[in-house]
Amino acid sequence: MAVAEAAIPSAAPRRLVPSLSIARLTLAHFRNYDALRLDCDDRPVILTGANGSGKTSLIEAISLLVPGRGLRRAALGDLQNHASPSPWAVAASLDTDAGLLSIGTGRDTSTADSDGERRAVHIDGKPARGQNHLADHVAMAWITPDMDRLLADGASARRKFLDRLVYSFDPAHGARVQRYEKAMRERLRLLREGRAEAAWLSALEDDMAQSAVAIAAVRRDMIKRLRVAIDGGGDAFPRADIEVRGTAEDMLDTLPALPAEDALRAAFARARHEDARHGTCAVGAHRSDLRVTHRARQCPAELCSTGEQKALLIALMLAYVRLITEQRHMTPLFLLDDIAAHLDDRRRTALFDEIRALGVQAWLTGTDSRDFAAMAGHAQAFHVEDGRISPRA
Ligand SMILES: Nc1ncnc2c1ncn2[C@@H]1O[C@H](COP(=O)(O)OP(=O)(O)OP(=O)(O)O)[C@@H](O)[C@H]1O
Ligand SMILES: [Mg+2]
Repeated sequence: MAVAEAAIPSAAPRRLVPSLSIARLTLAHFRNYDALRLDCDDRPVILTGANGSGKTSLIEAISLLVPGRGLRRAALGDLQNHASPSPWAVAASLDTDAGLLSIGTGRDTSTADSDGERRAVHIDGKPARGQNHLADHVAMAWITPDMDRLLADGASARRKFLDRLVYSFDPAHGARVQRYEKAMRERLRLLREGRAEAAWLSALEDDMAQSAVAIAAVRRDMIKRLRVAIDGGGDAFPRADIEVRGTAEDMLDTLPALPAEDALRAAFARARHEDARHGTCAVGAHRSDLRVTHRARQCPAELCSTGEQKALLIALMLAYVRLITEQRHMTPLFLLDDIAAHLDDRRRTALFDEIRALGVQAWLTGTDSRDFAAMAGHAQAFHVEDGRISPRA
């Protein structure tokens, strides 16, 4: 089996900020990659190549080094190379301030009853007890073309986006959201079946109210932190005013947590009849929205142009990367898929300047290497072709 290998010999000078970069990435049977080993230094990485060559797939593999389903939210089976029966695997040797750390993940087919949908994780050569441990070692942020309509479309995608941002700060957030949604689904099932005992419903609503207020509190905290980070950014990208609105979030404007839980429990109880009729839950943490406004223009993001929305989103993610670096003392890996699209020359150069200033190992993809000319000398460039990678001069 051929191993496509590419090495950049010279390492960049070390920085003073806490650093995290991929020194070596290895893929096996992942998407259109059969076997790949890529060695790199801690500078940004530029991946260019034709449509369908494997650029997004490569950074998708990287996105699996944190908990979750990666930047395409794919099912584990979809990541499996069509031509290979051996389970896919992704491994990275990370260059950290404490030395090299190896982490790996892949499709777990080890247990007899496994349907291949469990993701196994190895940290430092040892099996980890779940993906969540990845968050102790790696932080990540990404911008993908799928997010182009994030600010324009419905609340659901923006809420998930916000929850993902929270998650990097507070890995317990995922379990909190899952617990809330489980109780909500159970309550809805009882209401739909019309066989709900009041005590049973109350217990579920109690669970929902507690989880919802906890969820709302951490979302509000993330918004506050992000606001500070946004204000600390440069002028090249538009500043966003952000807020999270929702039943529980709004209650916390005026109430401490316990009275807010009581108010929410009462709201759930009041909504039983309507919820049973409509088959949905009208109020709760699953309805909240992240609202974004272009500050200088005082214009809601959904009414901004496509390019302005992209610029707002980039500004938001740059603020987030700064926030993680400063407050989690962890430099995140920053994945930017197809990033040159929609950005004019000035903004593209400003983005590259910001990435350099942040000192993060950003992974940028595009079809045209000329779009990255302004990064020359400050990044390592690779050519992607048909699931193989070679250094670009
Ligand atoms: N599970 C899989 N097994 C094999 N090939 C796959 C699998 N999933 C996707 N592919 C193929 O891998 C190729 C690379 O896809 P990818 O999205 O990485 O391309 P890309 O370089 O990002 O292209 P674009 O410039 O169009 O965004 C595509 O031809 C795709 O159809
Ligand atoms: Mg792509």
